[in-house]
Amino acid sequence: MEDYQLLIDLHKKGYRQGPGGDSETELAIKLSGLDTAGSLNVLDVGCGTGASTIALASRLDCQVTGIDIFDEFLVEVIHKSNEKGLDSKIRTRNCPMEDLPFAKEEFDVIWGEGSIYNMGFGKGISYLRDFLKPNGILAVSEITWFSKERPKELEDYWNLEYPEIATASEKMGILESNGFSIMGYFPLPKKCWEENYYAPMRSRFSEFLRHNEHSEMAREIVDSEEKEMELFSTFHQYYGYGFYIAKKL
Ligand SMILES: C[S@@+](CC[C@H](N)C(=O)[O-])C[C@H]1O[C@@H](n2cnc3c(N)ncnc32)[C@H](O)[C@@H]1O
Repeated sequence: MEDYQLLIDLHKKGYRQGPGGDSETELAIKLSGLDTAGSLNVLDVGCGTGASTIALASRLDCQVTGIDIFDEFLVEVIHKSNEKGLDSKIRTRNCPMEDLPFAKEEFDVIWGEGSIYNMGFGKGISYLRDFLKPNGILAVSEITWFSKERPKELEDYWNLEYPEIATASEKMGILESNGFSIMGYFPLPKKCWEENYYAPMRSRFSEFLRHNEHSEMAREIVDSEEKEMELFSTFHQYYGYGFYIAKKL
């Protein structure tokens, strides 16, 4: 099995494929002021199995398009939206966020929980901006340093994994220099990582390894996830996800 097929196998039954939470999606909606707006056209980029897609469709007067590059995840979005009676508000599309098949200024809202890093924060923001209407809302969560000083071991890890990791003020600066006005920011609480993402993933490890006959690649994936969990447990005061809500000027 290919590396990415193994990742799909590990994550497709997850409620989330990254740190987050329904109450944090709700808070971001409140900060954006969208809860009182009507007939919104919303794009959820890198929607995974649709935790935020479903939350947005349940709370807003909107149509949501969830995009991802893996059909296995999008099938779960469809399944959940049918189950919740939200199928008329949600559609999915398999396409990469860096090559969107949509018109410029098509969306009122672009949402991306834990996904903009796939393009890189700066590049992603600048590209997605074109697809927002004037005054449209961009809401993204992104790995963020919570302090100026960090242990070297941690710096080395993240500089290798994602060199664009930066403090919230630096991320907000990037948003501002790309023509956005900040409407809100908050750090995701620890439970969004440990309870909502890591613990459910850990509970799938043994089935995942069994299903993949304990192959070397499957074992490597589990080892790397365990290393990431340990790092978070030791150093969570230094980094986490920041949720950024901004308006296109
Ligand atoms: C960390 S997961 C977050 C998923 C979901 N938003 C959540 O919070 O549960 C990142 C998602 O981005 C998707 N992805 C990766 N590269 C992508 C790309 N180039 N375009 C669109 N989606 C992509 C992955 O398949 C995955 O579902």
